[in-house]
Amino acid sequence: MSPKVPEPTAFPRERAFLVGVEIRSDPSPLSLEDSLAELRLLAQTADLEVVGETYQRLERPHPDTLIGSGKVEEIKALLEETAADVVIFDAELTPRHQRELEEKFGNQVRVLDRTALILDIFARHAHTREGILQVELAFYEYRLPRLTRAWTNLAQQTGGGGGRTGSQGGVGLRGPGETQLEVDRREIRRRIAFLKRELEKVRAHRQRYRQQRRKSQIPVISLVGYTNAGKSTLLNRLARAQVYVADQLFATLDPTTRRVELPGGHVVLFTDTVGFIQKLPTQLIAAFRATLEEITESDLLVHVLDVTHPNAVEQWKVVQETLEEIGAGDIPVITALNKIDRLPDTTAIKTLSDAFSHSVPISALTGDGIPNLLRAIETTLYEDYSPIIVHIPYSEGHLISLFHEHGKVERVTHHDGYVTMQGLLPGRFLARFTPFTRRIKTVTQAEPNNGTSDVAIS
Ligand code: GTP
Repeated sequence: MSPKVPEPTAFPRERAFLVGVEIRSDPSPLSLEDSLAELRLLAQTADLEVVGETYQRLERPHPDTLIGSGKVEEIKALLEETAADVVIFDAELTPRHQRELEEKFGNQVRVLDRTALILDIFARHAHTREGILQVELAFYEYRLPRLTRAWTNLAQQTGGGGGRTGSQGGVGLRGPGETQLEVDRREIRRRIAFLKRELEKVRAHRQRYRQQRRKSQIPVISLVGYTNAGKSTLLNRLARAQVYVADQLFATLDPTTRRVELPGGHVVLFTDTVGFIQKLPTQLIAAFRATLEEITESDLLVHVLDVTHPNAVEQWKVVQETLEEIGAGDIPVITALNKIDRLPDTTAIKTLSDAFSHSVPISALTGDGIPNLLRAIETTLYEDYSPIIVHIPYSEGHLISLFHEHGKVERVTHHDGYVTMQGLLPGRFLARFTPFTRRIKTVTQAEPNNGTSDVAIS
């Protein structure tokens, strides 16, 4: 998805003033300072010039303006002093906050929040048709309730019209000015409905592709991690390091999937995924549901962690929590402790390896540790057997056969409508059984091939 090279622009960079907000009743994983530092990086990624910043700690959000009235006045003066074009809050502003703040700041300065900024960056990074549709949908859903005032999108002045690489039609997120600015609510609703229909089509296609992939029995490994952890670099490294790489295999459907042969000869598919970030806007989680679902369908996850980042542990937590949230919490994980080329010595590497279970230190940049990572993946998928008890409805007969064929069955108990199986399974099959590892009461309510309401991925 990266590298994050700002696009060339003929326009002067917009001047951005940042406002950090800590709300004690709604704590976030990073400290106020670290979160603000992250916002600074996000702003730079969006090609903005950061001209100043301030912050406020609050017990709870102010209903009108999020921050207190005294702080609003102080920021107003600072905006004038720094000649800022845009003020960005490190929080999610409600439409009411946004309206009130715009009014208070005299409508000269545009008021944006973290979500708008992330949306802008995602728009730059969306390359696949699905990605582009998802970002556009998220953008309009974000924009709809904020339509009371002509809302100029960030990229309007920073990136010009060429920002959406690979865009195939549709109203450009970063695209033409006036027409986009003046679309009314009705048009936006129509556009949202259209985008949803298009996404449904892409998803149906993707579903068929997934089914084919399942049949092929080639394990799928998703690279997950905090933004900038090095997932794309690792995927490129893995693809390059391999002789048997077929870049084009699923290129039309998912250009970020690579076929890689492991040292023992087994072939696997690696898939890059969208980077996680703390306070990931709700619109984006919803919009990227399909992409995130891809993760839940994986046989193994490689969690890429930038161990040189000062907030590495917090970032690790954010990713693990997001994985839980999207229903991928039970999939086996190997943590790739990345960027070890920047660590001072081997003692530091050893300390980290000890701190993270099931981890492999690597440098995606230099290739250091990659053979170890591939070996660990092969061992997890093909050699490690994990104990498991599953309750499989008879309608899922293929899973019963699969357990008998590839696992070591220790005990089988038949019930009305389902069978309980206990034994050992190789790592590559565990993820397929996770919908059936919980209480049978819910499993028997399952719809065929669709898991159940509460045991399937929600
Ligand atoms: P998102 O697209 O934001 O999710 O990021 P990503 O996880 O795909 O990270 P990406 O591969 O784009 O790498 C981010 C930055 O880290 C780039 O500047 C890489 O060159 C750098 N990087 C990645 N791996 C390593 C590494 O092993 N060592 C060092 N020193 N830098 C690395």
